[in-house]
Amino acid sequence: MSSFTTTTEDSVAVVTFDLPGEPVNKLTAAVRLEFEALLIHLRDDSAIKAVVLISGKPDSFIAGADIEEFTALTTQAEAERLSFEGQEMVSRVETLAKPVVAAIHGACLGGGLELALACHYRIATDHPKTQLGLPEVQLGIIPGAGGCQRLPRLIGVRAALDMILAGKSERALKALRLGLVDEVVPHSILRSVAVAAAGRLAQTGLPRRKSKGGLQDTLLDRTAAGRRMVYRGARQQVLKKTGNHYPAPLAALEAVRVGLEHGIAAGLAEEHRAFGELAVGDVSRKLVQIFFATTSLKKDDGIVPGSAVPRQIRRLGIIGSGFMGSGIAGTAVLNVEVDTRLKDADLSRVGKGLKAAIEILSERLKRRRLTRPQYERLTALLSGGDSYAGFGRADLVIEAVFEELDLKRRVLAEVEAAARPDTIFASNTSTIPIRDIAASAERPERVLGMHFFSPVEKMPLLEVIPTELTSPEAIVTAVRFGRRMGKTVIVVDDHPGFWVNRILSPYLNEAAFLLEEGVPIELIDTTMAAWGFPVGPVALLDEVGLDVAQKAGRVMHEAFGERMKPAGALSRMLAANRFGRKNGVGFYRYEDGHKAGVDSSVYPLLGVRPVEGADARLVERRLVYAMLNEAAGACAEGVIRCARDGDVGAIYGIGFPPFRGGPLRMLDDLGAARAVEALHLLQDQHGERFRPAAALVEMSRQGGRYYPA
Ligand code: 3HC
Ligand code: NAI
Repeated sequence: MSSFTTTTEDSVAVVTFDLPGEPVNKLTAAVRLEFEALLIHLRDDSAIKAVVLISGKPDSFIAGADIEEFTALTTQAEAERLSFEGQEMVSRVETLAKPVVAAIHGACLGGGLELALACHYRIATDHPKTQLGLPEVQLGIIPGAGGCQRLPRLIGVRAALDMILAGKSERALKALRLGLVDEVVPHSILRSVAVAAAGRLAQTGLPRRKSKGGLQDTLLDRTAAGRRMVYRGARQQVLKKTGNHYPAPLAALEAVRVGLEHGIAAGLAEEHRAFGELAVGDVSRKLVQIFFATTSLKKDDGIVPGSAVPRQIRRLGIIGSGFMGSGIAGTAVLNVEVDTRLKDADLSRVGKGLKAAIEILSERLKRRRLTRPQYERLTALLSGGDSYAGFGRADLVIEAVFEELDLKRRVLAEVEAAARPDTIFASNTSTIPIRDIAASAERPERVLGMHFFSPVEKMPLLEVIPTELTSPEAIVTAVRFGRRMGKTVIVVDDHPGFWVNRILSPYLNEAAFLLEEGVPIELIDTTMAAWGFPVGPVALLDEVGLDVAQKAGRVMHEAFGERMKPAGALSRMLAANRFGRKNGVGFYRYEDGHKAGVDSSVYPLLGVRPVEGADARLVERRLVYAMLNEAAGACAEGVIRCARDGDVGAIYGIGFPPFRGGPLRMLDDLGAARAVEALHLLQDQHGERFRPAAALVEMSRQGGRYYPA
């Protein structure tokens, strides 16, 4: 079956790309062959004076090279060839000798943007689905079809590095400002404007683009000395952000540099060389696995497929307009555009919550992600009060009141009285079993957990927690709603701490044990940041709030006994009125809301003196194995449905280093036997809390794994 159809309007060939049987257009090996044959035809047909390339898919122009093909690559040489062939195809478009116009609607990513960059004119729709970007580094590779060469030449080296090194995408209006596209139009006229532009270019010749910017741009982008400064700055920034764990951004920087300093041929050679090396490397393999895990979760509703249909949520109610309630409200309004009503105990708290929710929208307005009219329309969807007025119309109610079982039960009873019988009730509790909250519910089939992470608008994960009694309809409704809020959703079983806090607990507790032994805070945090976490565990305790961490620790202790017995460090800190960032004093000092170094007065409080010469490797081993062991135990108890969910949850919920693939993937890499051996050693030195999970021991005996080898 053919992927391209060509129609001719006047003397313009309109080539429609529509990869059969796939939801998005991808540049597969077969597509490349067909497209190259088509290019020869377009070149040789003298009746054709210009070409428009457009997509037949509803929401994607081209989503890039086929990532699935990467997984089949076994050697560096094969991967290099794949990149080289992509470069060749794209170059043939550039040198066609007839103007080619890219008419872009929807995702224009990776190889898709590289192809568009080789076209002679680019028109994009102003639709929010239209995104242009080179996300390759997020897959551990670099743009390998000329993107490292053409993008800096088109929009300047600094703007290009901004996009390439972070793998970020831009909407059409920003792309226009950058000079990445030539025109932005409504979807309805994309095709006709593109045909007209192609006809025009056939007559007048290719467009001449004025270089943008002032003196600074000229100095930095167009002089060798200026560019050297840019490369140096970019390198430093990359190292700071990736801690040298991710080779792709630096490799992309090098491919850009070589191209600009030594010419496009040298740049392309460096580009396909580096692509080949990276595509078969371990980091890329891990990131590609995460891409497919995340993608498959987009279709997983957590129920037997077809067993229920999601309810439409027209009105959302939120009880508790504190930190989490307001975050959920702002994010729901922003992403789902749903009518949202907040309730709290008194009006001044409601006011504070509304203000915090609106702040999320204002932030978008400031960053020009929302227009003023959109902002006005969205803020009008938010309302609040100190009573249940309006809750009779709510389809979904999420509670985010204090973490107290009795209070949550009372709130549930009040909601059951105020709302409709079919209203779904979700608790955002972080530790209390949902079945305990639902114990006295009149309609337990409508009760479940929706555990968001803070800050809600930024954290990408949502845990949905059904009980044995929750109906499939309630589950699928919560999952779909979370997804519309922009979250990656995992459905987890109703155990204390669910998944993310369950595996986080022993890790944070181990950090507290280390503190009690006088291991310096800097050493603990820099060790784990160097290991790949966004922040170390002590800084994380400060962020979470020591009171919250203590409460969670107690719940876990009660549920799991001695193994999770909390270290005493948190109690001592709390006795001294240190709550962490929220009250400006924790393990760290805070000045004007900014973290300002370790507070050394903490050590006397903890009754220790910071020890010298503590072994960073041992610190790392204790912290990492505390988490891995708990992950193995929780997985065996059925907290998660599969290893995929566990790894995605750890990466998106805690910032577990993506290049390590997640705790379960890491156990596979280590091998259960080695993990058990390491845990036994730790158990001898530090006690029973390190006893290897029975399931892990069993796995080591049988040579089992979490993922197929
Ligand atoms: N390769 C292979 N499969 C892809 C793909 C790609 N580039 N892009 C999307 N898909 C698949 C998904 O796996 C999914 O497959 P499934 O239906 O069998 O599960 C299907 O297309 C639909 O994708 P989503 O469910 O993710 O649909 P959304 O509408 O939510 O998102 C998207 C669409 C924004 C295009 C998103 O899929 C995406 O970000 N894709 C990846 C884009 C990317 O990273 N491109 C760069 C590729 S690398 C490259 O081009 C190298 C070059 O420089 C040589
Ligand atoms: P918060 O203290 O900021 O907000 C709680 C709000 O609930 C307050 O505004 C309070 O006035 C209100 N409230 C108390 N009783 C009420 C009642 N009867 N009716 C209406 N409102 C009432 O607390 P936060 O941090 O927002 O936490 C809320 C819930 O979210 C807790 O269950 C917590 O465990 C959970 N959670 C918290 C996370 C965090 O990082 N803070 C992360 C994930 C979940």
